[in-house]
Order: sequence, then C-alpha cells, then structure tokens
Amino acid sequence: MRASQYSRFGESSVLETVQLPAPARAKGEVLVENKAASITPLDYRVRKGEFFKYVQRFPKTPGCDFAGVVLETETGSKLKRGDRVFGFTSKGTHASQISVPEAHLASIPDGVSYEEAAAAASASVTAWQALDPDRLKPGQRLLIQAGTGGVGHVAIQLAKNAGAHVITTTSTRNIAFAQELGADEVIDYTSTDFVQQLRDKPVDLVVDMVGGADNGRNRQVVKRNGRFAHVFNCGYIKQGWGANFSSPMLEMRDVMYGLIVGGLHLGPKYSPVIAAPSSSLLERIGNLMATGKLKIHIDRAFPLDQARAAHDHLEHGRPRGKVILTM
Ligand SMILES: NC(=O)c1ccc[n+]([C@@H]2O[C@H](COP(=O)([O-])OP(=O)(O)OC[C@H]3O[C@@H](n4cnc5c(N)ncnc54)[C@H](OP(=O)(O)O)[C@@H]3O)[C@@H](O)[C@H]2O)c1
Repeated sequence: MRASQYSRFGESSVLETVQLPAPARAKGEVLVENKAASITPLDYRVRKGEFFKYVQRFPKTPGCDFAGVVLETETGSKLKRGDRVFGFTSKGTHASQISVPEAHLASIPDGVSYEEAAAAASASVTAWQALDPDRLKPGQRLLIQAGTGGVGHVAIQLAKNAGAHVITTTSTRNIAFAQELGADEVIDYTSTDFVQQLRDKPVDLVVDMVGGADNGRNRQVVKRNGRFAHVFNCGYIKQGWGANFSSPMLEMRDVMYGLIVGGLHLGPKYSPVIAAPSSSLLERIGNLMATGKLKIHIDRAFPLDQARAAHDHLEHGRPRGKVILTM
C-alpha cells in the first residue's frame, strides 16, 4: 500500500510518499481500502512539532478522516467486504489501506461520493458536538466563529437546519460564501470587531474555533444563561486579524478558566469540544448529505503523492470548506 509519511518535524517538504506492507487487521477492527482522506489543521500542526511533540512516533502517517471500501471484517460484523464506509480515527489515514475500529465508522449512503464522505467525517462530528443541534430551538441566535472553514461551513448548515439565526465571522473574500451557506449575518473579522457588533445583542450560543486573545472575549457576547462551546484548537488558528497566538498551554489555561467560570455559574455554560468518533452520528450526517440537507464544499482535491502541496494549501491557501487527498 502507499502512504504519506514523515520522519522528522518540519515544513511540508518532510512529507514523502512511501510503499509499505498492507496493515494487518486488528481485533474489533475493519480493514478498509481507503479512497479519500481529508487534511485538518491538526495534521500540519503536529507535522510542524507544534502539538503533541513529545508523544509522536516516527515514521508518522498524518490524517484522521477516511472513506473507502471494506476489505475484511471481524466475524459477526454488520459490515461485509465491498461495503462503502467513512469515519475518523487517530490511526493515520493518509494511506491507501487502513485498519480502523468498527465503532469509528458508518456506511456511506448512495449518492454520496468517497471525497464528500472523507471531507465530512470529523468536521461534521465536531460541528455537531459543538452545536448539539437536537437541542437548538428555532430562532435562537448563534455566533459561529470561523464559519467558512472545514468545521464552520458544516456548523452553519446544521444550525440553519435547526431553525437558528446564524451570525458568523469570516474574512472579506469569504462573505459571499458564508451567505450562500445560509448565514443570516456575516461579520468581516478583518474590518469589524465582533464584540462591538454583538455586545448589545448577545447570542444564545457561541461556537469558537479561532481562540487566541478572542477566546475569552466571546463571553462578552453570550447571554448569561447561554452556552459557550470552545472547539479545542490544538494551539489556536495563527493567521487572521487580532492578537491570535499559537500555544496549546495557553489554550489549556482558557479551558480551565472556562470550566471554573461555567461550573460556578459565574458566566455562560462552558463546553470544551474534542470530537469523538460515533457511528450513529456519522450515520445521521451521511443521511443529511444524501438528502441534500448538508452540502460539503471541497475547496480542492490533491492526489496522495501531492500531499506536500495539499498541506500547504490548507495552511496558507485560505481554502473554503475542506481540502482532501485522493488515494
Ligand atoms: N477539538 C476538535 O476536536 C477539533 C476538530 C476539528 C477542528 N478543530 C480545530 O478547529 C479549528 C477550525 O478547524 P477547520 O478544520 O475548520 O480549519 P480551517 O478549515 O483551516 O478553517 C479555518 C478558518 O478560520 C478562519 N479564520 C482565521 N482567522 C479568523 C478570525 N480571526 N476570525 C474568524 N475566522 C478566522 C479562516 O477564514 P479566512 O480564510 O476567511 O480567514 C478559515 O476559514 C482549527 O483550529 C482546528 O484545529 C478542533
């Protein structure tokens, strides 16, 4: 099988496409012929040694999302050889074959491509677990920070499906895209301060995917009985307007602060979000895609042997929606 790997931290030039023996299927797992995988900010941050530096083992295969065909399953599994499946796992998915826990995947419905499924998996589960759309009430006002990225563009659609009034932040070039996704109000973060804009009209829920200096400021725009969902950023988004910075330790400080303030009811309820794979949630997401209620926007697809360009595009190309690799 083929995989994209690196054996030292650094820029995208450390990535190599290598030939490897096919992985053995572990107990409780499903062996998958992988057709497509997405790239997430965690992939390039870990590659650069910015996050989890001391627990990485080399050679390292990046990637968490996958979509492909079942090759082999455990006896008694609901799945069979040839089934189309998608999901996410911590096992490194930028490879043409992977062995993944059955609990981390779901079937891809008819009409949904491998590319769309791979692009949807972790981004959609993250957006879902941050929003908790089953508990949203029509008309509730939401602020989704970074609404045109991989997670944000799903979050806007899930919130609109639930009947919420969606306010989002993005840069000037992506305002029209945010509106196409259904956002009711778009704040251009390059020219407008969201606190100034919303302080007098606080929201019921803020979903923060930017962090940095703005993480704590989100509390100024949420109702006292509202909720603040902090999508853990693995060190925050670096680019962009404002005094953003990249440090997992500083982000951990914000998580501790949020838990104390929220726990003692001194501010809005606080939910730190770290996406957890769930077959049943992936199934619901697949159904939304099959029925046209969730459209995954793929900014660009790269073949596996162009993984370097794909990482660079996600990090520097300001993509709309998702960047994926095809095997
Ligand atoms: N905790 C978890 O389980 C989990 C799961 C998935 C993702 N994440 C984290 O969530 C974050 C978003 O992930 P993603 O996949 O959506 O990333 P992405 O696709 O790279 O999107 C990032 C977005 O941030 C926007 N942005 C940059 N600076 C901003 C600012 N100051 N205000 C508002 N928006 C700004 C960019 O918009 P412009 O291009 O218009 O500037 C871009 O659309 C990342 O930090 C990622 O690590 C966490």
